[in-house]
Amino acid sequence: MAKFVIKGGNQLNGKVKISGAKNSALKIMAASILATGTTILKNVPAIDDVITMVEVLSTIGADISFNSSTNEVKINCDNIKTFEAPYELVRKMRASILVAGPLLSRFGEVKIAIPGGCNIGSRQIDLHLKGFEMLGAQNKLEHGYIYSKVLSSASSSSGHTSISKNFKRKLKGAEINLEFPSRGATENIMMAACLATGKTIINNAAKEPEINDLANFLNKCGAKITGIGTDSIVIEGVEELKGCEYTVMPDSIETGTFIIAGALCGKKIEINNAIWDNMGIFCQKLKDIGVNLINKDADKTIIVKKSKTLLKPAYISTLPFPGFPTDLQPIIAVLLCTIPGISVITENVFENRFMYVDELNRMGANIRIDGHHAVITGVNKLSGAPVNASDLRAGAALVLAGLIADGTTEIYDIHHILRGYENFDKKLRNLGADIVKVN
Ligand code: EPU
Repeated sequence: MAKFVIKGGNQLNGKVKISGAKNSALKIMAASILATGTTILKNVPAIDDVITMVEVLSTIGADISFNSSTNEVKINCDNIKTFEAPYELVRKMRASILVAGPLLSRFGEVKIAIPGGCNIGSRQIDLHLKGFEMLGAQNKLEHGYIYSKVLSSASSSSGHTSISKNFKRKLKGAEINLEFPSRGATENIMMAACLATGKTIINNAAKEPEINDLANFLNKCGAKITGIGTDSIVIEGVEELKGCEYTVMPDSIETGTFIIAGALCGKKIEINNAIWDNMGIFCQKLKDIGVNLINKDADKTIIVKKSKTLLKPAYISTLPFPGFPTDLQPIIAVLLCTIPGISVITENVFENRFMYVDELNRMGANIRIDGHHAVITGVNKLSGAPVNASDLRAGAALVLAGLIADGTTEIYDIHHILRGYENFDKKLRNLGADIVKVN
């Protein structure tokens, strides 16, 4: 089993380039199911989750290749024959559920394993299913699978293409009010609605920049989506989408991770391919804490410099975009652990996202959990220890803790980290960190 071994105490300095966004690339790959012809995606991160999505799409019959050195994916879904996504793949990666909307739209039915919970929470998909129902499908849950099928047929109004020939039943546009701005539900419904008849409106939609990226990709393929970036997304159904060439946006969570690395132990870190506006309230919150951040928007660059003043404790509350992102919650916790005084983090999105706390406490942090609040008392130093990554972002947080801890930190279960960060150890080493991956 691979682990990261980190010797703490090095100051970081230099430039780092942010990779393509995991949570955009995966959805755009799934969306390519809807398009005829070939789609070429650029800036796709070489991470394990992308490899799993390649596997999912090739299992259902897509012709797909991924060049990890050029970060390019080539997909042709013209010959997909099945509408089933098996448990072996869905259990490996929850985001596999995002093929459900496109498959339902394309075949009029889909059978997909229920993903179940994970280490950060129970992760329901009821809102996805309600959305499918509103678009005219009926859902049946049986033997751990969801079987969703379009009930009545609404025939397509004009010519047929190789994909639209496959349409047995079409979804029908509807107005859908989401109880919570779920990202996955917004994405699945938006994809399903692109080829439905008539207009779909998703109210209380998620507004994360990755959703805008997916909508922009779909529009480039010929979809008619408006209201992008607002909480009311409107989709006018079209007859056909055609594959296109598209560049995936930069990863905002990776950007945030390097910003915190800079705040913890950076002299000056220049973060390239980083978009300030995609960070929501995150950068403002860090400025309030006293982190020295410079936005060079025109160059897509964010600079973090060592702060000349003492950093201040903070109250953080996670919320959907543009609120403070839950994915950066474990990561900012490491910074707050080192700031004198008391900080409080309230986690509002996932009920189980404090799994990293016991590991940080083993490294000398002082964090107490009270329900969905973490009360953090700043300490003078962390000390290196063997620790376990319970999920992707928890793992990244432990890496950052290791960078500033006394002595050596060994991080186990790093397969979680490799799911979502491209060349994490190499990028940190280039900035001056002493981190190695040991197999
Ligand atoms: N929820 C429901 N019902 C649903 C859908 C969601 O109750 O039908 C609840 C969830 O249980 C959760 C909350 O709503 O409590 C948020 O879920 P959402 O659907 O917004 O999240 P997701 O699409 O499952 C994505 C990211 C996560 C990120 C969350 C929140 C992907 C592949 N995953 O998950 O990313 O934390 O949004 O921003 O896009 C990660 O990258 O490490 C990661 C976990």
